[in-house]
Amino acid sequence: MADYDVVIIGGGPGGYNAAIRAGQLGLTTACVDSRATLGGTCLNVGCMPSKALLHASEMFEKAMGVDFKTLGIEVEPKLNLAQMMKQKAESVAGLTKGVEFLFRKNKVEWLKGHGRIAGPGKVVVRAEDGSETTCGAKNIVIATGSIPAPLSGVQVDQTRIVDSTGALSLAEVPKRMIVIGAGVIGLELGSVWRRLGAEVTVVEYLDRILPGTDAEIALTLQKSLAKQGMVFRLGAKVTGAKASDKAVALSFEPVAGGAAETLEAEVVLLCVGRRPNTQGVGLESVGIAPDRRGFIETDHGRTSAAGVWAIGDVTPGPMLAHKAEDEGVAVIETIAGRAGHVNYAVIPSVVYTSPEVATVGRTEEELKAAGVDYKVGRFPFSANSRARINHEGEGLVKVLADARTDRILGAHMVGPDVGEMVGEWCVAMEFVAASEDVARTCHPHPTRSEALRQAAMAVEGWAMQV
Ligand code: FAD
Ligand code: NAI
Repeated sequence: MADYDVVIIGGGPGGYNAAIRAGQLGLTTACVDSRATLGGTCLNVGCMPSKALLHASEMFEKAMGVDFKTLGIEVEPKLNLAQMMKQKAESVAGLTKGVEFLFRKNKVEWLKGHGRIAGPGKVVVRAEDGSETTCGAKNIVIATGSIPAPLSGVQVDQTRIVDSTGALSLAEVPKRMIVIGAGVIGLELGSVWRRLGAEVTVVEYLDRILPGTDAEIALTLQKSLAKQGMVFRLGAKVTGAKASDKAVALSFEPVAGGAAETLEAEVVLLCVGRRPNTQGVGLESVGIAPDRRGFIETDHGRTSAAGVWAIGDVTPGPMLAHKAEDEGVAVIETIAGRAGHVNYAVIPSVVYTSPEVATVGRTEEELKAAGVDYKVGRFPFSANSRARINHEGEGLVKVLADARTDRILGAHMVGPDVGEMVGEWCVAMEFVAASEDVARTCHPHPTRSEALRQAAMAVEGWAMQV
């Protein structure tokens, strides 16, 4: 039986970053993962393949449509879906191999197989051939991630009714696609297939898209996606889906009451959230009981069992790769006797549609509900010179600041490449900046980032370019 300072179960962004940090800090480390390649959901069937298709499909649509023509570029693009999928797979393979390289570099051992806690300080690894090995661990980190949430009456078969994994590998562009759930996956993957030619209808239970996102930003995105051709059926409750060889009949009815309807599509994408993956991890062997929704509750990464930690999607909070990564690093630093910490108030979130959505901090609705006195600064991309010259003037930047102290409480953006710019708000918020700090910071011209500065100026009513 090998003994380690740390054994991490799960090799996604939580687990692999924890493993690398542990290796850096000189802890003897193993990471157990049962997939053929490292990187977890994010690298294999999540963030990275979805971004590969979002990028490629956006290029295709630009070349197909008004964007290129407006710029004076005339081309006749033709979709080669097989090549699009191939380049996605090659990029993903490069990234997963990259994690293997980082493991070797930091002396992390990858124990291939299914990991199960078998009592305090013990992890059993079951290899693909069924053989089992037990290792000793001073610390066990649970980083087993999440899996798609099911919906009763809608049976995923990965052919006609797919989840996000199926939707990343369709062999042909469906004529029609119905997306159940107007969350992040629905809007991103719905955008991919609409750009490639599918008629996409999004059926959402709530009367809005992207629940939890600042409502003004979400509505701006909804209008933009609707203009692109995405159809929204909001306030609609799905009651069942019947798949045949050629199509799926999806039934739904208004949540507020009214006549039921049936829509047909060649493919239905089910994406109504994800749930923590704790099945078969052996939690009971160390007395950990997941909460009502299946999450493992933690206090700074510590579970209720001594020497057992949990990070990432398997714990409460946003299911995001960078949240998992930060928790992984914090837990390892704590194990190594350092001051590990995650600032949950500053975890950004990006929706990689076009235009993009990027947000951090509290929404206007949250501030109202908490009775916080706040000021708002807004700046539209239509008034930003770089966005205008690029013909991408849709969207806005909105910053919320404390009315008394001017401290930035939240920043919410929808517009071109805002995902690349939200880090500026994160840094400002980590340094407890006032909106005036950003307003008085020199930004390069001409860049879209000037819209952030102008929005900060607008908090005190002196935005100059609108
Ligand atoms: P995971 O990445 O889920 O990794 C857990 C790993 O553990 C998996 O490899 C799993 O197979 C393995 N495992 C589980 N149980 C065991 C066991 N008992 N033994 C051995 N191995 C086990 N987030 C973003 O921040 N940005 C994005 O753009 C983004 N896009 C996404 C797109 C899609 C389509 C999806 C589905 C998700 C996306 N996410 C995105 C979310 C992101 O993928 C997750 O938040 C992130 O992967 C969580 O990391 P994790 O380490 O907690 O778990
Ligand atoms: P989600 O939680 O983002 O959205 C699910 C949507 O489905 C919600 O709008 C919800 O109201 C709706 N819904 C729930 N039940 C429904 C029903 N019965 N009928 C119709 N609609 C219903 O979940 P999603 O899109 O599945 O994504 C899962 C997670 O993956 C997200 O929490 C997100 O954190 C992560 N992710 C992150 C990405 C990013 O950061 N860019 C990209 C993709 C996923």
